[in-house]
Amino acid sequence: MRNIDIQSIKQRFGIIGNSPLLNYAIQVAAQVAPTEMTVLITGESGSGKESFSKIIHQLSPRKHGQFIAINCGAIPEGTIDSELFGHEKGSFTGATDTRKGYFEVTDGGTIFLDEIGEMPLATQARLLRVLENGEFIKVGSSKVQKTDVRVVAATNVNLLNAVEKGRFREDLYYRLNTVPITVPPLRERGEDIYLLFRKFASDFAERYRVKPISLTPDAVEELLSFRFPGNIRQLKNIVEQISVLEYDRELDAARLRHYLPREQGGSQVPALLAREHGADQSFSERDLLYKVLFDMRRDVSDLKKLVYELMTRQPGDTELLKEHSHLFENIEQVNHVRPFKSPEQHEPYYLPMQQPRDEEDYEERVEDIPHETEEEGLSLESMEKEMILKALKKHNNKRKYAANDLGISERTLYRKLKQYDIEN
Ligand SMILES: Nc1ncnc2c1ncn2[C@@H]1O[C@H](COP(=O)(O)OP(=O)(O)OP(=O)(O)O)[C@@H](O)[C@H]1O
Ligand SMILES: [Mg+2]
Repeated sequence: MRNIDIQSIKQRFGIIGNSPLLNYAIQVAAQVAPTEMTVLITGESGSGKESFSKIIHQLSPRKHGQFIAINCGAIPEGTIDSELFGHEKGSFTGATDTRKGYFEVTDGGTIFLDEIGEMPLATQARLLRVLENGEFIKVGSSKVQKTDVRVVAATNVNLLNAVEKGRFREDLYYRLNTVPITVPPLRERGEDIYLLFRKFASDFAERYRVKPISLTPDAVEELLSFRFPGNIRQLKNIVEQISVLEYDRELDAARLRHYLPREQGGSQVPALLAREHGADQSFSERDLLYKVLFDMRRDVSDLKKLVYELMTRQPGDTELLKEHSHLFENIEQVNHVRPFKSPEQHEPYYLPMQQPRDEEDYEERVEDIPHETEEEGLSLESMEKEMILKALKKHNNKRKYAANDLGISERTLYRKLKQYDIEN
């Protein structure tokens, strides 16, 4: 077997990390690169699949040929056949010229088909043919053409599941999967997480001309135990945020936690709701987010009140109260707005996932939520007002379109115009 220098490959392709799973994936890529085999790269979103397609092309005899990366999920179903295989003049409305597709243009090179699981079934049939014998037919033509293209495909979904559900051709799956490469999720790469953190910290420090951020030992532990559902892409975004926002350049675990989304509860609520109401178009995402935000604010405000109550009931604990006094700054005002109720007295929470949505009812509830302070209430309202004004301006004061854009009904918009004293 050829001697593969994994370290130099990493250097050449800017791949950071040393975990055995990563090294193994790189080794497989380097081994299959010089062959003509089709490769299927599987890995979660953001785990770094893209570099693997480049390794395979660059270390192959096709390296002087073309390399094209195509995101199958981003091309509309109606045009993907023509994009990949070309079309004849007049084959559909708008086909004013004969056009070559990527499989013709890339003859002698490599095509990277990203998000292959999104490829429509009809296109899958064409792809299978070109993989089997290099043959393809332009859309609207009857002439069989030949091409010599190496295919590297990638997916972040389990293609076998798609096969079971009839969304992916089984024969194509086995044809593509001659050599599987599995890119490990970041959470399974152990110390690589910290290596990547430091690399990104130094990159962003350079980009923004600031001191690199660093972590205390407890923060490192916190980082290593986070699940990173968005993998390297997510880690990179988090490091960028911290690099720009944090005044103190060394973060402890508590500080770092602010940037790591909660994995249960809060951050997943919108996704849950979206699933529950997946088919219900009237339940817009914006409304849901609004609702979640309001609910969270109410929860926090209730919790503050509860804690305050409990703590003032026990006179001995004033130290603790003083220490966290900033948390309770607004509590007097809160009580002016609405008298504090004990938790038992609270009305049950209104959760959209448990009840079908009645728009008016929902809106009333949202308005019902006590405003924590004058200031906060105002800033949210002024933001809403601003959004409404923007939408109206954008649509030349046409309420119907503005409402549509805002994701609310025309009736709601009308009510809000009155509420904010906006005249068209
Ligand atoms: N080992 C690595 N070292 C440094 N940066 C990396 C590494 N792997 C990936 N990245 C960076 O992480 C980001 C995500 O990588 P990439 O786009 O390859 O993910 P992906 O697996 O293709 O995700 P998706 O399925 O969403 O397309 C990119 O900005 C990439 O540069
Ligand atoms: Mg990708």
